Amino acid sequence: MRYLLGLDIGTSGTKTALFDEYGNTIRTATYEYNLFQPQVGWAEQDPNDWWEASVKGIKNVIEKSKVQASDIKGIGLSGQMHGLVMVDKDNKVIRNSIIWCDQRTEKECDYMTEVIGKERLIKITGNPALTGFTLSKLLWIKNNEPENYKKIHKILLPKDYIRFKLTDIFATEVSDASGMQMLDINTRDWSQELLDDLRIDRSILADVYESVIVSGKVTEEAAKLTGLAVNTPVVGGAGDQAAGAIGNGIVSEGIISTTIGTSGVVFAATNTPRFDKFGRVHTLCHAVPNKWHVMGVTQGAGLSLNWFKKTFCHKDIEESEKLGKNIYDILTEKAKDSKPGANGIIYLPYLMGERTPHIDPNVKGAFLGVSLINNHNDFIRSVLEGVGFSLKNCLDIIEDMDVKVDHIRISGGGAESEVWRQILADIFQYPLTTIKASEGPALGVAILAGVGAGIYESVEEACCKIVKGGEKVSPNEEVKEEYSKVYNLYNSAYPRVKDFNI
Ligand code: XUL
Repeated sequence: MRYLLGLDIGTSGTKTALFDEYGNTIRTATYEYNLFQPQVGWAEQDPNDWWEASVKGIKNVIEKSKVQASDIKGIGLSGQMHGLVMVDKDNKVIRNSIIWCDQRTEKECDYMTEVIGKERLIKITGNPALTGFTLSKLLWIKNNEPENYKKIHKILLPKDYIRFKLTDIFATEVSDASGMQMLDINTRDWSQELLDDLRIDRSILADVYESVIVSGKVTEEAAKLTGLAVNTPVVGGAGDQAAGAIGNGIVSEGIISTTIGTSGVVFAATNTPRFDKFGRVHTLCHAVPNKWHVMGVTQGAGLSLNWFKKTFCHKDIEESEKLGKNIYDILTEKAKDSKPGANGIIYLPYLMGERTPHIDPNVKGAFLGVSLINNHNDFIRSVLEGVGFSLKNCLDIIEDMDVKVDHIRISGGGAESEVWRQILADIFQYPLTTIKASEGPALGVAILAGVGAGIYESVEEACCKIVKGGEKVSPNEEVKEEYSKVYNLYNSAYPRVKDFNI
């Protein structure tokens, strides 16, 4: 039997998953690490923690599965996108990585818009200047930490730092590189004109590959540390969203996905680059050769429920510990005792600003419409619905761009809740299908590794064989009108609250 390994360098931890060539999960291991928030709106992580978690994860799955390392035919890397890792000429990490959800770079975004122009930025990179993306973080370092900027030998994305540690090679691939905002997504290569205009030296960027191409091989040193075989091929891989989409089979036009993870995403594959002229959804290269994708992002999806739980649900947490029941099952069950519209409460999920549709790093979250009749269950339901409305904003824009929507697949931790799935189907007024595999991005990059290793002919063929649809959730017609009314109210809220912050 041949095996494939997928790694997902996530925000809360790194998941390592070993699959056989039929896509069956053999073993997974996850190791967590810290997130540092030196100031409000800032978010950083230590790349050495990612490497440590990767080494432990690879060792664990090889040892515990008893699979021969030489039978692992390829490795795929996935991970949180947009993070800035800087290494010096001795290949040492210069400072902690500024990661995707960090919001400190508004000034740098204004500068990018002024120098390049919003329309030109969208035309070249697929997106307007975004605080989350890597380029604005690099400019922030230039402006605020010039001594660190001078030390830069290479800049890397989180998963590409792990590639470097495994293979000694500086490389990236098109899907994640698009999220750095220095790639011309039309030519799938670095944009020299943009680098020239912003005075960025191209030599600090890694080589860009297509996601299925073997970018390097495991070195002797990395093999010793991890238990992998020397020379195991490592393919380009993909950013976590493109990788997750492959794990969900989103590789051709018409099938789209919605994911409720920490952030929430609506994702569609396209045969040509498709742009929203306002840049409200991201346009990026897909990890499938010659394909692109559009995606709308809700910054605070699972994050909202997690925050609500930690802040307001101590009794529920106690109950869950006493009963040995999953806390999220308890909370989402309670939401059922409220009703569509949460008895008047509208929740705006802007805990970390918002991307789609507002692209506003400063807007704050809110509960609106609260009255004496409301109880705990209404608040929980309003959180689930608020995230649903924000995801509907993403879907509406994608439909407005005339991207075909034939089927919608749902995945991510939040999709494990039957109640949340139903709420989303009711708000979208589309049937949603769950996916049987739960390894998401790790499976997606294992598929890419299988293509690179010659086990599958193409990503599309592999997805047909491996990705299986699960349960279908049908929208309830009876709540259509109520949700459409509440959705309009939700949409009217942003202009009223957008300046309400300190
Ligand atoms: C995508 C995005 C997140 C991160 C973290 O644009 O910012 O999905 O990759 O998961």
